[in-house]
Amino acid sequence: MPTLALCYGTRPQIIKASVLRRSLAPLGPVLAVDTGQHYDYELNAVFYEQLGVEPPDLFLEVGSGSHAAQTAAVLERAEAVLDRARPAAVLVIGDTNSTLGAALAAAKLRIPVVHVEAGLRATDHLMAEELNRRVVDAIAALLCTPSATVTARMAREHPGQRVVETGDVAYDVLLGQLGRLAPPDTVVPGLGPGYIFATLHRAELVDHPERLAGAVAGLQALGREVVFAVHPRTRNALERCGITNRVAWPVRLVPAVGYLQSLALARGAAVLVTDSGGLQREGYWLGTPCVTLRAETEWEETVSAGANLLVSPDDAARSLPAAFETQLARWNGSARWDPTAYGTGHAAARVADAVRALLSS
Ligand code: UD1
Repeated sequence: MPTLALCYGTRPQIIKASVLRRSLAPLGPVLAVDTGQHYDYELNAVFYEQLGVEPPDLFLEVGSGSHAAQTAAVLERAEAVLDRARPAAVLVIGDTNSTLGAALAAAKLRIPVVHVEAGLRATDHLMAEELNRRVVDAIAALLCTPSATVTARMAREHPGQRVVETGDVAYDVLLGQLGRLAPPDTVVPGLGPGYIFATLHRAELVDHPERLAGAVAGLQALGREVVFAVHPRTRNALERCGITNRVAWPVRLVPAVGYLQSLALARGAAVLVTDSGGLQREGYWLGTPCVTLRAETEWEETVSAGANLLVSPDDAARSLPAAFETQLARWNGSARWDPTAYGTGHAAARVADAVRALLSS
């Protein structure tokens, strides 16, 4: 009988699960359940391969769909799996539909839920990720938080719940892989110094044609080589809006890249332009300044450190160039910041300690 189950299903969660699976192993058997929310090689299998992780014990093949369909499929399939396995606790990560579905399934079976990356907040209450994490925080038996700000917020919002500040497991993964990064021009041939690395994938940006067009216009206006790694959702949106054919040098579209390639490109870049929470922190840890195309960020420490600057996606065509110049000056000035707001790279071990304490309480 497994002691624990770890449920995850999207690209960043597979990355974070890699260190959690190792840190939890001493507690007993861990049932690894990949919901299959992300299923393409470039969003799924490549991360198992690169991080040397065993395939999951179960792959639920949930796939894409509306929010309701995707969440319901996770809920139903995770319930069947968890009801059979009856683990002592179920760990979920972050704020995706996979997180919500698996956490609800566990809670309804009265299996304690451990929320890794708990407590992040945005002011947009109806954003899918915000709904997901608020619900999961409310039903979790253990909230593992990435930073002091978030810990204080959870103590206020959920005074009766167990809150442990573990730090961010994504930092553990990054530190473990730094020695394996190739030079950026081996990832994208011909890439010169001072390039920009760009990624965009959020529904709030790419599913709005005017925002997507504005973001691409803003990138075109930077006058520097841009490597734009394209998530499948974004590829479809660019095609649908007829933008793909209009993208021209110095912006280069490349398919979504693996974890090691993404880190290598982020480390070598002058500036990142993204809407990804993962890349905002990776820029902060790697010393690469970032411009985030969102009106707000859950990773507020990156902004107060000066590592990150926000540009509204409604205003990208006009405001991206000025924000880029500000962040480029930080890169040129080798202005760096203390990268320890999200812990010191031992978060997965702290999660394991907190789970051990939960199980013995
Ligand atoms: C999801 C998360 C988001 C997270 C992101 C990480 C939710 C609500 N959103 O967004 O918070 O930041 O993962 O990457 O859970 N697709 C493929 N191949 C795949 C997977 C998806 O082509 O393997 C395409 C499909 O057209 C699909 C679309 O991408 O409809 C969106 O995928 P989905 O999993 O629904 O959300 P993401 O945008 O990836």
